[in-house]
Amino acid sequence: MTNRLYVTTPIYYVNDKPHIGHAYCTILADALARYTRLDGGETFFLTGTDEHGQKVQQAAEKRGVTPQQHVDELFSAFQDLWPTLECAPDRFIRTTEPAHKNVVQRALWQLYDQGLIEDRTFEGWYCVPDERFWTEKEIVAGNCPDCGRPVTRLQERNWFFLMSRFQDRLIQAVQTGEMAIVPANRANEVLGFLREPLQDLCISRPKSRLSWGIELPFDRDFVAYVWFDALLNYVTALAPELPPPTAEDHALTPHLLGHAPFQKWWPHVTHCLGKDILTTHAVYWPTMLLALGLPVPKRLVTTGWWLMDDAKMSKSIGNVVDPLVLRDTYGPDVMRYFFLREMAVGQDANFSEEAVVRRNNADLANDLGNLLQRVVGMCTRSFDGKIPAATQPPSHVLADALAYAQHLQDEQATDDFEPVAVTSSQARLNRTIADTMVLVQKLNGVITADAPFKKVQTDKEAAQTTLNGVLHGIVVAAKLLAPVMPAASAEMLRRMQAQDGTLRPGTQLIEGAPLFPKHEWKMEMAELVDTKSQPGAAQATSGRGLQDFRTGEFRSESEPSDLIDIETFARSQLRLGLVISAEPVAKSKKLLRLMIDLGEGQPRQILSGIAETVPPVDLIGKQVLVIANLPPRMMMGMESHGMLLVAEDAEGKRVPLHPARDVPNGVLVK
Ligand code: MSP
Repeated sequence: MTNRLYVTTPIYYVNDKPHIGHAYCTILADALARYTRLDGGETFFLTGTDEHGQKVQQAAEKRGVTPQQHVDELFSAFQDLWPTLECAPDRFIRTTEPAHKNVVQRALWQLYDQGLIEDRTFEGWYCVPDERFWTEKEIVAGNCPDCGRPVTRLQERNWFFLMSRFQDRLIQAVQTGEMAIVPANRANEVLGFLREPLQDLCISRPKSRLSWGIELPFDRDFVAYVWFDALLNYVTALAPELPPPTAEDHALTPHLLGHAPFQKWWPHVTHCLGKDILTTHAVYWPTMLLALGLPVPKRLVTTGWWLMDDAKMSKSIGNVVDPLVLRDTYGPDVMRYFFLREMAVGQDANFSEEAVVRRNNADLANDLGNLLQRVVGMCTRSFDGKIPAATQPPSHVLADALAYAQHLQDEQATDDFEPVAVTSSQARLNRTIADTMVLVQKLNGVITADAPFKKVQTDKEAAQTTLNGVLHGIVVAAKLLAPVMPAASAEMLRRMQAQDGTLRPGTQLIEGAPLFPKHEWKMEMAELVDTKSQPGAAQATSGRGLQDFRTGEFRSESEPSDLIDIETFARSQLRLGLVISAEPVAKSKKLLRLMIDLGEGQPRQILSGIAETVPPVDLIGKQVLVIANLPPRMMMGMESHGMLLVAEDAEGKRVPLHPARDVPNGVLVK
């Protein structure tokens, strides 16, 4: 059966300027679609803008234009951005489209008919300037907790969706995985929320307060709550063009169930969303669908946040990174690579331009771009610029690299390839990218070990076999990275004339400028400042060392004269465990919070001072070495139940230790 993916992003508030949080989510969805297609699957990719609500109404009023004029001017900032980031949505939806309005009104009317929407009058504390209600507990000495102005007691009639009726059914959907929530800890969060009785949901706003919205078809004094309206975009995109509801024909579900695009795509829906909008997607949305008699979403991929100095990037803090500047400085491919390589799906990650430059210079310019450049250069000098044929058995290192390339391709081609693994917190996407970069490193290793540039003088056949093999490896890497860097990958394949993925000896190679120019960044300076600020950093700059559990600092290895007996050694429980999740610790530059499975039933929380040199994504899904019988320690207000063991490389950067092959979690190292 063909693998299918219907992938969606949240629809973005049209009032905001696009920032990198939006760009990340759209790039992620685009890459998931591209990986699925690489695997021979079919995809439908939806994004769009969320255009109703109070903020839009207020902004339009301020400008003296109608809300419709306002959103018509703004939505294209999003629509026009995506192609420039190589994102290719199949449909861009706006919630002000008549088709969407008809879907929302039909959904409302259908639920009303089914007795699942009813009106109630409630009383609360109302802040007139902020136009919102507060509960008794929330107000501060008779004042609004937000703006500090006095609140007034107000009664209001509203329409409620009887969401509480679907609580048990929803719990079942989450527990059985009928609606998979990735990563798994987010599913637990939702189940935790559902342990409390679920309230009914107020789905209307009186027009006297808010008129910019979709009218309730059965009560013209109200418009729909903006989330009720917005979530339905995911079905509007698959619905037929429906006329406005009438007394005779006002249901939604029959029109959807009988419609081929809905039948084709809905069972394969994956919603990508940020963790701040998990409740709306994991509680409101599936209960709305259940009430309408429609299947719950197949999967929710919940992403973390890009942080700046450990704070969420947001307009109010003023630390927002403009995706346009990033794109114009580094190009869309580098930007996409950075986003998808640096952030493990579901975890938070710190954004810094310095990190972008590092990834560009190290992974892309040095490892990938330079590899192709050198190989093409050698072929130009020694083989008339043509792809040489392999005429000998490969060397040991080349055979290893080629076997690895084959393994990656086989893995990609398996029927069950899912770009986002449902069962584990680790997205397959991150691993594919990381593994492909390992292939690139192996190919660089082949050049170093087999030295074809020297060999060509003494053993031309050996040199050409090496170059042929390395070029073959680059073709595989370019194909596997195509979903991440569509343009760069296409250009690499073009230079090798292997657009169809096949390398043909005798074909002329095409020379060109370096694909990933290096960028200058005041990196040395930044590092200098950092190093100086770390006490005791001087002796940690070279050689190996062990991390001090209490301080996160490194101390040098024991002197050989400090001999211990085997019993003393045996008292240390060195164990291997699987990193299930890894994320930065708020307000700490150095610490990562790791959840490590040591085969004890419950994973352990271990804090480690490696945040500056090891991105979380490099740890997740890997086995690492820990010392497991230290007493628990508090670090940044959190308990750490063990210590991650690391080595240091020649530059003093910390390197985690992984076993050569997988072993059972918790196994003792002796
Ligand atoms: N309009 C709603 C979504 C309705 S979907 C039916 C909305 N829009 S939003 O524009 O505020 O946010 C869209 C997405 O951007 C959310 O998934 C949010 O998590 C994401 N991001 C906003 N800031 C972010 C970061 N700093 N980092 C990563 N993503 C974040 O919510």
